[in-house]
Amino acid sequence: MSIILELQGIRKTYQLAEEEFHALKGVDLSIERGEMVALMGPSGSGKTTLMQIIGLLDAPSDGAYQLRGRDVTTLNENERARARNLDIGFVFQAFYLLTRQNVLENVETPMIYAGIPPKERRERAMWALERVGIAEKWRNLPSQISGGQKQRVAVARALTLEPAILLADEPTGNLDSRTSIEIMSLFQALNNEGSTVIIVTHEPEIGEHCERIVRLRDGLLESDMQNHDRRRVVA
Ligand SMILES: Nc1ncnc2c1ncn2[C@@H]1O[C@H](COP(=O)(O)OP(=O)(O)OP(=O)(O)O)[C@@H](O)[C@H]1O
Ligand SMILES: [Mg+2]
Repeated sequence: MSIILELQGIRKTYQLAEEEFHALKGVDLSIERGEMVALMGPSGSGKTTLMQIIGLLDAPSDGAYQLRGRDVTTLNENERARARNLDIGFVFQAFYLLTRQNVLENVETPMIYAGIPPKERRERAMWALERVGIAEKWRNLPSQISGGQKQRVAVARALTLEPAILLADEPTGNLDSRTSIEIMSLFQALNNEGSTVIIVTHEPEIGEHCERIVRLRDGLLESDMQNHDRRRVVA
């Protein structure tokens, strides 16, 4: 196995008007290619902060970050954005679909920014929609599909640039339990095909679908365990 990302001594300090807030206080974490990791911990423990750093949406205040063998700690904003487009696919709790664009157009959006020509965009978007099992809804607007289907569209959108790492922050937070399991099954299938997957959740049933469970508390790693009783929903 090879290491896909490595964090060493990661700190994040937010500057508030009167004081500083230490959201991450020195996190060491290394993740191998092909792992499926749940990032858990109480509200305010720093999960989203850590995901934003891993996903190159934000830079740490201190510490070192190696992504695919490259030091990405000190990249400027443009370089960070480029590295993000290349390697990272994001899925969020709130889906963040464009309400006036249909399903296909939503999935095409990141490829427009990546400069991929229209015909290829369309083909890749249809491939991603097939992959998540909702190609037949390509003409629908987000308001015309269910919550679980919206999250599938968001996953398809994250897949189009074929990222090495899929990051999902509470991807099932707005879904009922049956639909949550369907989405976890989709992540497991993508993981089986080689994607490295990191999922933030505070729901233990969701964490159980992952092979490794990392817990944060008060900005520090509290535990890091292999989950030998992983729940499998895909064959
Ligand atoms: N931009 C910011 N400015 C100041 N403090 C912040 C900022 N963003 C987050 N924090 C603080 O950092 C801490 C960690 O926040 P974070 O969003 O990472 O928590 P979390 O573990 O994702 O929580 P939740 O489960 O509620 O989503 C919290 O105490 C939060 O108030
Ligand atoms: Mg959060």
